[in-house]
Amino acid sequence: MTKNNGKYALITGASQGLGYEFAKLAAQDGYNLVIVSRTKKKLDKVKKEIEKNYNVKVKVLVKDLAKPSSAGEIFSSLKKDKINVEMLINNAGYARFGLDHKISLKDDLNLIHVDLMTPVKLTKLYLKLMVKKRSGMILNVASIAGFQPMPYFNSYGASKSFILNFSEALYNELKGTGVHVTCVCPGVTKTGFIKRAKMEKSRLTKQIIMKASTVAKEGYRAMLKRKRLCVPGIHNKFLSIVHKILPRPVALRISRFVSGPY
Ligand SMILES: NC(=O)c1ccc[n+]([C@@H]2O[C@H](COP(=O)([O-])OP(=O)(O)OC[C@H]3O[C@@H](n4cnc5c(N)ncnc54)[C@H](OP(=O)(O)O)[C@@H]3O)[C@@H](O)[C@H]2O)c1
Repeated sequence: MTKNNGKYALITGASQGLGYEFAKLAAQDGYNLVIVSRTKKKLDKVKKEIEKNYNVKVKVLVKDLAKPSSAGEIFSSLKKDKINVEMLINNAGYARFGLDHKISLKDDLNLIHVDLMTPVKLTKLYLKLMVKKRSGMILNVASIAGFQPMPYFNSYGASKSFILNFSEALYNELKGTGVHVTCVCPGVTKTGFIKRAKMEKSRLTKQIIMKASTVAKEGYRAMLKRKRLCVPGIHNKFLSIVHKILPRPVALRISRFVSGPY
């Protein structure tokens, strides 16, 4: 059985999809886990499965990360329990498919909190402690949606662009500190994401869809190898490069076509 390494990994959005896969990978490496999402029932199931299969402890935290206070509450609660986070995986997130003027401000702000504000807050809260100890790693889950503007996924794409740029700049700033930040940018992956985004009519769903376990493994390994960026899948790597080379108006037109309804 796995040897418990006595360290803790904090993983947001670990009730299903990529977060659940990250949780298993960290447990396999002997990390105790703090798993966060809104759904206690699903988190309890993950806790039971992981504690049965790996020699690690799992703490469940039920939080709605759309709430501006959630990152601070997680930090205070773990501090009170003397849980020292050595690995942070900012994974929770979702998209909304649709034209921006048809999405309410409240819905957009909730998304921006989950996909952008909360990961930035958690990163900043734990980064300080990690740099002080000269040890720690952070994996931020962005998306290939972050490489260009994304009509029909506007706030989502823009939030993921922020996370991508924020993480890459941190990667550079942190050189020599013993702490590192990796950004993983998945393309379309088979999880609960498509259903939650209500994007069944988007052409994106007609592309190659990767397995969650494959994507998580690539991202997790990139973090362990202290890489700056990980784009899982050769087709996604190609897209990320093409969008960098193309003139912005052309990239934008392609992006609209690819994201839009069929
Ligand atoms: N799947 C893709 O095609 C794809 C592509 C690129 C990037 N990504 C990114 O990958 C990450 C993981 O998504 P996924 O594909 O694994 O989707 P998923 O299966 O829908 O899982 C999303 C996770 O985030 C949690 N979550 C969502 N809203 C939350 C909130 N307000 N508060 C707390 N937790 C919340 C969900 O838990 P509860 O519902 O229990 O709260 C769930 O555990 C996201 O950041 C997403 O943007 C996914």
